[in-house]
Parts: sequence; C-alpha cells; structure tokens
Amino acid sequence: MAVRSQAWYGGQDRNGFIHRAWMRRGLPDDAFDGKPHIAICTTWSDLSPCNSHLKEVAEHVARGVWEAGGVPLEMPVPSMGETQMRPTAMLYRNLAAMAVEEMIRANPVDGVVLLGGCDKTIPALLMGACSVDLPALVVAGGPMLNGTWRGRPLGCGTDVWRLSEEVRAGTLSPEDFQRAESAMIRSRGHCNTMGTASTMACVTEALGMTMPGNAGIPAPDSRLLQLSHLAGRRIVAMVAEDLTPSRILTHGSFRNALAALAAIGGSTNAVVHLLAIAGRVGAPLSLDDVDPFHDVPLLVDLQPAGTHLMEDFFRAGGLRAVLREISDRLDHEAINVLGRPLVEGLETAEITDPGVIRPASDPLRPAAGIAVLRGNLAPDGAIIKPAAASPHLLSHRGRAIVFESPEELHHRLDDPDLDVDENTVMVMRGCGPRGYPGMPEVGNMPLPAKLLERGVRDVVRISDARMSGTAYGTVVLHVAPESAVGGPLALVRTGDEITLDVERRLLRLEVPDDELARRTPAPPAWTPKGGYESLYVEHVTQADKGADLDFLTGVRGREVPRHSH
Ligand code: FES
Repeated sequence: MAVRSQAWYGGQDRNGFIHRAWMRRGLPDDAFDGKPHIAICTTWSDLSPCNSHLKEVAEHVARGVWEAGGVPLEMPVPSMGETQMRPTAMLYRNLAAMAVEEMIRANPVDGVVLLGGCDKTIPALLMGACSVDLPALVVAGGPMLNGTWRGRPLGCGTDVWRLSEEVRAGTLSPEDFQRAESAMIRSRGHCNTMGTASTMACVTEALGMTMPGNAGIPAPDSRLLQLSHLAGRRIVAMVAEDLTPSRILTHGSFRNALAALAAIGGSTNAVVHLLAIAGRVGAPLSLDDVDPFHDVPLLVDLQPAGTHLMEDFFRAGGLRAVLREISDRLDHEAINVLGRPLVEGLETAEITDPGVIRPASDPLRPAAGIAVLRGNLAPDGAIIKPAAASPHLLSHRGRAIVFESPEELHHRLDDPDLDVDENTVMVMRGCGPRGYPGMPEVGNMPLPAKLLERGVRDVVRISDARMSGTAYGTVVLHVAPESAVGGPLALVRTGDEITLDVERRLLRLEVPDDELARRTPAPPAWTPKGGYESLYVEHVTQADKGADLDFLTGVRGREVPRHSH
C-alpha cells in the first residue's frame, strides 16, 4: 500500500512537482518514491528548559529513521515550560494539542515521533497525535540528574515547597534558601521527583506508547540517545504495519497506566491527562476506572511520597521492574509500539536496589492508588492521593474557611487574626478549568503562618484546582463540577462543617439541602478577555472529563481531501 505522503509526492503532474521541489533540500529522487516520511515533533524551546536537549534527541531519532529507509523531518510544535507560563501551562495544553494535530494532518507525513518531557508536553503531543491516528510513538526526554545540597538529595519541586515553608516558619534563612536554588537544577531534563513529568513518562510507557525501558532514563544518559535511535528505526516499521494509537490504546492500556500510576505513587495530574487522551482516541475511561487501583501497593520510594529521585529510580530497575512486580494487575493483552504485549519480557526486569523500588511482597504502603471521592460537595467526583496525605487526616470533620481565589488566600494567609486551627478545612474555589482559567496547580494551598508557627504542617485542603505532582498534603483536588459552573463548591461558607472520609470515599458538606437551596452561588471572580482564553472558557470540559475542549475529543483521522494547487 502506498504511504500517505505519496498523495503529495507521487505522480508527475504539477502538484507532485511543487511538493517535491520545495522539499528537495539536497535529497535524491528516491526520497520521494514511497519512502515513509517521519515527522519528529519536538517540544524543544529555550523557554522549556526541561526539554532543551530534545534537539540532540531528534538528531538520534533521525539517524534511526534514515537507517530504516525513511525520511526524517524535524517539526517544532508548541512547548510549555511548566514553571514559566502564566496563568498556568495547563491553559495551553489543549492549544498545543490542537496545533500538533493540525500540523501532523496538514503535512506530508506518514508517521510521527513525539519528543516531550516537561509536564504538559507529552499529554499535548499524545492528544494531538491520537486525533490524527497516524502511527506514532513517544520518546520521553528523561529526568535531570539528582541535585544535592548540604549532603542531602535536593529534588526539584517537592523540596521547594518544604524549604519555602521553612523560610516562612523562620527555620531557614532567605540566604540559604537562595543557595539551595542553585544546587537544585544540575543538568538538562525534566523534574527529578515523581512529579507530573516523571509520572507522564511512566504512564506513557505503561500505555504502550514508548519503546520499552524509556521512562526514567536520565536526560544526559547516552542510553536515551540509543533508545532514540531505535525509536527512529521502529517508527518506520510501524508505518508499514499501520500500527496506530487507536490500535495500541485500548481500555486495557489505560488500566495498565492506572496500575502503574498507583505503584509509582504518581502525580494526580495524570488522571486528568489520561482522561483527555482516552477522549481523543475514543477509549472508554472515567473516574470509575481510577478508584479500583487504590489497592495497588506503593513500590517506589521517590519524592514526594518518599525520599529518592528519578536517577535512583532508573538505577534501581526503572518502570519495567515496577511493572514486573504488579504484572498480576496488568492487562496481558494490551500491546506497545513494538506490536507486542506490554508484559512481554517483564520476567527479565530486575529490581537492583530494593531501597528505591520495593518488591510487591514488601511495599512502602499496601494501598497507594488515587482515591475518587464523591458526595454533595463533589457530585461528579474529586480525587485525593492518600500516599501524599497525612494518615490522621484521612478521616476528618472540620470547620471550613473559604477563599474565593488564590489571590485572596495569599492576601489573608499571614493575618494573625485568621480564624484557623489544626482542624480547619481550607476551601478555595474559582480554580477549575473554566474558573481560573486553566485549572492551575494551586490546590496544595500554603498553610497560614499561625499554623506553621505552632508546628502544624498539614490540614485538609479542598479545591477545584490541580496540584503539582511534586506537592504533598491532605489535598482534595479536581472537585467537579467546579465552582465557576455553579458546582456546590460555590455554595460553601466559612464556618460550614465538611466531612472527608477517604475510607468511605466521601466528601460531604454538612449543610441541609434546603439551606443549600437557599444559598446563591459565589459568582466567578474572573471573565475572559477574548482570544484563546474565550475559546477555552466556552468549550473546556470539567476535570472528570479530562478538561479538553469539547470540540477536540475524538479521532478526526488523517485524510485531507482538498488541496490548493
Ligand atoms: Fe519541567 Fe518540572 S518544570 S518538568
């Protein structure tokens, strides 16, 4: 069967002449005689420092493509540097996914290799590629090397939260805080905790969308370049096999990703990304699929739930070693980009440091998956990561203090008259997909100074926001529907009692229904200013649906029936 790009390059008419002429760039005639043309979608950008090495990765993918008889084409696509973008990188995930989709479909390419790393980049690449459904594989760019400071490991992300609270509590000087800053980012690569980037690399491998063994290879490690070379070879074969995302990403693949997510103690953000990716490829997936993995044991001792960092994870055996330990929870039919079962060869995967990756017989925690909560405060669901929470708060009833926005929270946080104690339930609204907009990572609200001074390091916190994958605490997130669309979160008043009972999966506002019916929802604190923001706000779905734009869900395919020449 002729490859797709022959619709551009095949034939001797004027169209073929135009398409070939502009793409010759020194290539011989036979580059256009039916060889697969492979787009290497790269999210390299100086403003995404986590992905700064992807130029080099792309070169190694290209070597593999040439070697296997294909023609590689580097294609920059939008990138999102998690720490830099305002109001939040999440606002632009869908924009990037839309651009990826349209650029793949519009161009003469037969397969794509997706290069990502920083938090939103792999989800956006996958979402876009799924909607086109050409053969595709991901090369995950890998974490940065371990940071160290004063003889202790220093992880990017988790330790920032910890150290900044120490400064506010007066136990760390601002000068030392600044010194720690320079020790944290030692090399290229994404955050080295089990934050969102590391999590998405792991769940993408568990989905079957990377070469086996990709997740966790540190960015500066030459083995990443070797894998990239092999990925270049493999995508050419995938084009011949027409091995598309929709053939790989079954319900079983997503269940494998959820099992892996639990075993690694991964970021809560993976839930919203997996829901969005499933929505693109048409795989059935809902929050109801998440909770059954709550009893998967925590096997990985990495920050934020534990102590080590991604370099240690890779050294200890990486994701394949984890998957071997939970193989009884995996779908053995689900395949990967090799067209082979994900579980094939797992018997050779080894834990080489049980201090970092525990065997299933000796887990860090017996049940560490993400719990899905429901109740009158979250009729469409909310999530909590018990592995990052304080055990004594997992069943708790307390009095709410309500903040209308992150700005109000920060304004009032250090007020000595703030009416809070260790039993307080902090509630923040206006932070959902539509309300902020973009569902920022602010759910792990900083604690009021008066609590920190008393040695309190955690209280129950509830919001319609997300939280950084590197954050920790008893934090209820992704409350749906969000307050900005009139969800019950908009009705909570300071002084109301709220019950959190993770064991019973319950999140309840202890106010009678008739009283709630009399209340007027708090209005959204923000209105869009036009442009992409307005498009986003008008069309974004709720967190339980993946916070994609409603008109972007589904597969629209690879065909482009019209052209202008
Ligand atoms: Fe890029 Fe954390 S800031 S992965």
